Amino acid sequence: MPGLGAAAIGTEEEVLVLDVLRRKEPFRYYGMDFKPTPPMVAQLEKEFREYIGTDYALGVSSGTGALEVALAAMGIGTGDEVILTAWSWIACFTAIVRAGARPVLAEIDESLNLDPAEIGRLATPHTRAVLIVHYQGVAADMERIVFEAHKRGIFVLEDCAQSLGTRYRGRQIGTWGDIATFSFQFNKVATCGEGGMVTMRDQRLYERSVRLSDLGNYRPYHAAIVPAREVAFVGGQYRLSELAGAMALAQLRKVDRMWAHCRALQARILPKIKGLKGVATRHVPDPTGDFGFEIYLLLDNPAQVAPFREKLDARNVNCGARTGTYPQYNRDYVKTGLAHHPALSPFRDLKPWPAPGYRAEDFPRTEDLTKRFIALPLGWLYTSEDADYIADAIVAVHKEVCG
Ligand SMILES: Cc1ncc(COP(=O)(O)O)c(C=O)c1O
Repeated sequence: MPGLGAAAIGTEEEVLVLDVLRRKEPFRYYGMDFKPTPPMVAQLEKEFREYIGTDYALGVSSGTGALEVALAAMGIGTGDEVILTAWSWIACFTAIVRAGARPVLAEIDESLNLDPAEIGRLATPHTRAVLIVHYQGVAADMERIVFEAHKRGIFVLEDCAQSLGTRYRGRQIGTWGDIATFSFQFNKVATCGEGGMVTMRDQRLYERSVRLSDLGNYRPYHAAIVPAREVAFVGGQYRLSELAGAMALAQLRKVDRMWAHCRALQARILPKIKGLKGVATRHVPDPTGDFGFEIYLLLDNPAQVAPFREKLDARNVNCGARTGTYPQYNRDYVKTGLAHHPALSPFRDLKPWPAPGYRAEDFPRTEDLTKRFIALPLGWLYTSEDADYIADAIVAVHKEVCG
């Protein structure tokens, strides 16, 4: 099943992409002269910052690139530690390693997001940031997280890659922490194939992100938004093309419609499955902001998960045990603890490897929760009849499997 945004691709995307092609301006920048930059990525950034309600937005080439830029913008590097959930996407871990810092894995709670209490348990004098994944359309408990982090002088990086459009206490995610990242990869809420965004309120983080994303440059377009204050330093190349920007712009304009659609579907299903014995649904810290594109059932008995899923599958109800995510401690690069050069591995001094904090046995809650859930995606193409069918199927399968 295509991701939300991919299923919504239509004439709006065609019109904007064709416009780029007809103007023959697929590249955002043309040298250091004062020629006006082409409009698409600039317009995307403008509408993006207005949409989520922040001061600065910078288009980049992917969500992974956005994480690498955001970490470097905060000045995170060798000797630093960054807390993130063991249950998070590959790039969350690898971006920290590539910055030269050490990822410190934390437990999730019933929201499948970071348990805010983990910040107090894991923070050390070396902790510089906590990377929050808003996992699959549900905001983490940001009020508690920001409080726990900021009182310790720790930056909050919100990874909103999976959850653009999700709200928490009336505000969009991405506006709670110090810096936020988004992805327009194919499976995301809004897609342009590959692309990303970094957002922030702080002018210095913006300037540093621009330089990091564009070979150290700070071009007139950005200087017109806010004048440069930093001295030049080495950057990478994470620019977003005009073609990708055009498509992302058309998709961004659809996010609220997708949000309303998914919430309406979810509202038909949740009341019908509430109270089923032995089955809880994912804890949502703020249900009014939930995107609703995926329903998570948490079964009390892990042995019932496989038969439950098989029976849903047999009824043609799309469901999965995981959505590309699996625990970091089970991934190959965590098992080896290597970076591309041995001296760059933040784990080089931890012996024997895997050290405590990087083994499955160190995460009893993450192990337990992720073995007990069933994920049911809801899509842009799903109708109310589909939602009713899914709810009825869950009730029927529950009767068969859980008695
Ligand atoms: C939580 C999270 N962070 C980061 C990324 C990386 O985004 P991208 O695939 O655009 O590099 C993803 C995407 O798959 C993700 O789900």
